[in-house]
Amino acid sequence: MVPMSSTKIRPIEWREGRVRLLDQTRLPGEVVYLDITDYRDMAQAIKTLQVRGAPALGVAGAYGLVLAAQAITAGDCSAFLASVKKAAVELRATRPTAVNLGWALDRLLRVADQGAREAVGAIHELPLRLLNEAHRIAQEDEAGNLAIGRHGAELVPQGASVLTHCNAGALATSAYGTALGVVRAAWEQGRIRRVFNTETRPLLQGARLTAWELLQDGIQTTLITDSMAGYFIHRGEIDCVVVGADRIAANGDVANKIGTYTIAVLAAEHGIPFYVAAPTSTIDLSVPNGEAIPIEERRPEEVTHIQGVATAPAGVWVANPAFDITPHQYVTAIITEKGVVREPYQERLRRLVGEVQAAG
Ligand code: MRU
Repeated sequence: MVPMSSTKIRPIEWREGRVRLLDQTRLPGEVVYLDITDYRDMAQAIKTLQVRGAPALGVAGAYGLVLAAQAITAGDCSAFLASVKKAAVELRATRPTAVNLGWALDRLLRVADQGAREAVGAIHELPLRLLNEAHRIAQEDEAGNLAIGRHGAELVPQGASVLTHCNAGALATSAYGTALGVVRAAWEQGRIRRVFNTETRPLLQGARLTAWELLQDGIQTTLITDSMAGYFIHRGEIDCVVVGADRIAANGDVANKIGTYTIAVLAAEHGIPFYVAAPTSTIDLSVPNGEAIPIEERRPEEVTHIQGVATAPAGVWVANPAFDITPHQYVTAIITEKGVVREPYQERLRRLVGEVQAAG
């Protein structure tokens, strides 16, 4: 039984054979829902960031694969499996850094494999098996975020001023959020005096999404540009930083939205804790360190334009890595649904993931 979360924001919902997505590219101006019925439209929605944030990508990918499965109405189990695997390849290729996408697709593919072996010839029950697994992923994510919130709130000092970057909130998960789960829980306990959030160039997930979802829930936040973080940290106005993660390597290095590393270095220089809040599904033991994490390079127009308006001369060279790596030395602790992990990350993350796998 999943306990109720304190926010009603739900970016992805399965409704009568289709997926209802909150279009995050339209926020905060308009609250528009998309009705997704084809897995290729889901792949497109992921590419264009209509749905984004590592855990939400896992849930979106899983439901996307269910759409692909339910569109297969003829053929035997091996043909079913081949079509589902092809759709999984397309969905997986949409965004390379957030590991939750591939992790969720792999979970569904294991169910499809087993189902195909058991169903011997009858494919009609297989989509339902995949749907049940996708629902489990979404429910586990929400329950996990509530647990992350509980563990993380204990680390937030009474009367603290907290800085977050990008959007690791309800919008980036199935509900409640990871970093914003910590903020929500600490806020509910009356621990937080002030929240600061960066605008998060180039795509403004902080300004558009974090500010929107916090205000929706009555949590006031102070929006700053990314380049103001040092100013406020230097003035002693920030007591701790909490961010999400797209992938955590075996040694504790963290891939997260571009600009995270800068804030981590500032936090270390000024002796304030830098926390990463993420579910264990974001930990990827197959990559030894941050160097091995693929970093998504996105379109130059995201840098040369703001919401369609050119802010740079045509022809300028552009670099647009969507994520950066924060070496584990800068990470005070990783807050997971199973508890708080500190150095030495290598052995503690391995043990934690081993326990989760053994329990599942
Ligand atoms: O490019 P985005 O918007 O998908 O990037 C999102 C982030 O970097 C988040 O901080 C991360 O996915 C954690 S979400 C709980």
